[in-house]
Amino acid sequence: MLRTHTCGELRLSKNGKKVTLCGWVQKSRDLGGMTFIDIRDRYGITQLVFNMETNAGLCSNARKIGREFVICATGIVKERSNKNFNIPTGEIEIVVQEFKVLNKSEVPPFTIEEETDGGEELRMKYRYLDLRRNPVKKNIILRYEMAREVRKYLDLKEFIEIETPVLIKSTPEGARDFVVPSRLKAGEFYALPQSPQTFKQLLMISGFDKYFQLVKCFRDEDFRADRQPEFTQIDCEMSFVERDDILETFEGLAKHLFKKIRDFDYKDAFPRLPYNEALEKYGTDKPDTRFEMLIQDITELAKGKGFKVFDSVEYIGGICVKGGAEYSRKKLDALTDFVRKPQIGATGLVYVKLNNDGTVKSSVDKFFNREELDKWTGNMEGENGDILLVLAGDRKKTLYALSKLRLEMGKQLGLMDKNTFTPLWVVDFPLLEWDDESQRYHAMHHPFTSAIKDDFHLFKTDPGKIRANAYDLVINGVEIGGGSIRIHDKQKQAEMFRLLGFSPEEAENQFGFLMNAFKYGAPPHGGIAFGFDRWVTLFGGTDSIRDYIAFPKNTAGRDVMIDTPSVLSDEQLRELSLKVVNK
Ligand code: AMO
Repeated sequence: MLRTHTCGELRLSKNGKKVTLCGWVQKSRDLGGMTFIDIRDRYGITQLVFNMETNAGLCSNARKIGREFVICATGIVKERSNKNFNIPTGEIEIVVQEFKVLNKSEVPPFTIEEETDGGEELRMKYRYLDLRRNPVKKNIILRYEMAREVRKYLDLKEFIEIETPVLIKSTPEGARDFVVPSRLKAGEFYALPQSPQTFKQLLMISGFDKYFQLVKCFRDEDFRADRQPEFTQIDCEMSFVERDDILETFEGLAKHLFKKIRDFDYKDAFPRLPYNEALEKYGTDKPDTRFEMLIQDITELAKGKGFKVFDSVEYIGGICVKGGAEYSRKKLDALTDFVRKPQIGATGLVYVKLNNDGTVKSSVDKFFNREELDKWTGNMEGENGDILLVLAGDRKKTLYALSKLRLEMGKQLGLMDKNTFTPLWVVDFPLLEWDDESQRYHAMHHPFTSAIKDDFHLFKTDPGKIRANAYDLVINGVEIGGGSIRIHDKQKQAEMFRLLGFSPEEAENQFGFLMNAFKYGAPPHGGIAFGFDRWVTLFGGTDSIRDYIAFPKNTAGRDVMIDTPSVLSDEQLRELSLKVVNK
C-alpha cells in the first residue's frame, strides 16, 4: 500500500510515530508561518501541518496544493495544541516531512463538504464527486451494511442466494416493461424483469426450498419520490409454508435489521391489520401508525340533514386534530387549498372548532345545530381545543384525500419522528381489482397470488370480494415489502388467468413454462420481496431513495452523468432491425 494508515484511524496513542497517509485535499489554510491541510479518504479526515520556519521549501510547495488534489504525505504524529473534539482524529496532527502530489484536480464544480453549494442536478452530473461528500458516502456505506446483515440473517436461516436471468420474457406485474431488442432475431425482444417472480417459483419446483436474491428490478412507471426505474429487491421464496411461517421468518429479518442497523429491540410481534380496516381507519393500505388521528365515518350522522354538499355523496368522514381549535382563518384556507389540489382531489373542507371555552364554531353552522355537531364530536372523540376536519364525496376518493390530509396534519404537528418506527403487516388484500376502463379484473398483487381458503366459494359468485393470501410490510407509511402464498396448482392457476381475462392461448403463450412446470410436482410455496432502496432510505432518515443509490436516475428517469437514455446510431438501429418513427 502507498499508505501506512487511513485518514480516519490515527489517535493520541500513536504520538511520535512516523506515518504515511494518502487522500484528497479537503481544505488548506495558511496561518502565518504554518500551513494546515485537511486530508480526506473514505475513513475520515486528518490534519497535516507544514512549518515555514523548520521547512520553508516544503511549506511553500504545500501552499500550491489545491482542493481535491490527491496527495501522499509522510510525517510524525503529534498531539495538537488546539484540539478538535468534533472529529475522531481531532487530538492529533501530522507534522509533514515529505509529500507527493499523486494527481492534480481542477476546481470541483461544487464544494465537497457536509453542506454543499451544488444543486441536485449538478451533483448528479458529477455524482462521483458528490459521493466523496460525507452524508452521501455514509448512505452508501449504510446500504452495504444492511445488505450484509440481510445476507447474514438469511444465511443463518438456510436461505441460499441464486441469480436469475436479466434478459427475460415480459411478466405482467402492474408496470410497463423495459425491453431489449434481439439482434439475432429481428423483431423479437427480451424484457428486463420487473421482479424475478416466476423464476423464484420455478426454483421452488426445482426443490431449492429457501431462496433469496438481492436483485435489480426494472419498471417503466410514472415517477414518485420513492420509486426508481431500476431498483433493488430483497427477493425471497420458501416451500412448504403457510402465511404465518413467512410472516414470522421475515419479521425476524426486520427485527434483525432494526437491532443491527438502528439498535432497536423489537420484542413484540408486529401488528397485523386487515386491508379493509387500514382503508377505513387510515384511508390507505400503507398506514403511518406513528400517530393516531384515525379517520371516522360520519356518513350516517351528517347525511340527509339538508346540506346539499353532503346529501348527494356516498361517504362523509373526518379526522380530529388535537389542539386545532386555534387554527386561524388563513391556516384553514391553506388546508382547504391543500385538499383541493388535483392530486388530493377533495372538493372542499368542512371544519368544526371545539373551542376551549366549550363553544363550537363550524363552517356549516347554517345546516347543523349544536346537538348534531356534538354527535360528530362524540364519534370522533373530540375534546375542547380540538378541530374536526371533514371531507365528503365518493368513498374511495374521499378516504384517499383524508389519508393525505391526515399525513399533512401529522407533518405539521411534528408527529412523524424519523427515529420512531412503527412496523405492521397489512393482510387480507382483495385478490382482484375491477378496472372500469378495460372492464375486467386485474390482480391486485400479481396473477400467481392464491386466495384465502375461506373465500374459495366466491370465485363463482362474487370474485371482487375474494381476499388474497397476501401481505405487505409497512413501516411509517412506506410499503417496504409485499408478497403472498402462491397458487401451486395448474388448474387453479388456469382459473385465475381466466378470471383476469386471459384467453387459454394468451395464458399459454405468456406463462406456458410455469403452467408446464406445475405438472411436475410443485410444492406449496410463498414468498415476499422487500424494496431494499426504500428500506435503507427509511433507516437512513432522509426522504429520497436517490440518496442511497450510488448512481441513481433523476426524476425524469435520466442518468445525467452518463447522459442516458440516448439515441442509437443508424448502424446500431439497422443491426437491430429497428426504425424510430416518432421522435
Ligand atoms: P412488489 O411489486 O410489491 O412485489 O415489489 C416489492 C417491493 O419493491 C419495492 N418497489 C420499489 N422500490 C423502488 N422503486 C420502485 N419502482 C419500486 N417498485 C416496487 C416496494 C415493494 O413493496 N414479485 C413481487 C413480490 C412477491 O410476491 O414475492 C413484487 O415484486 O417496496
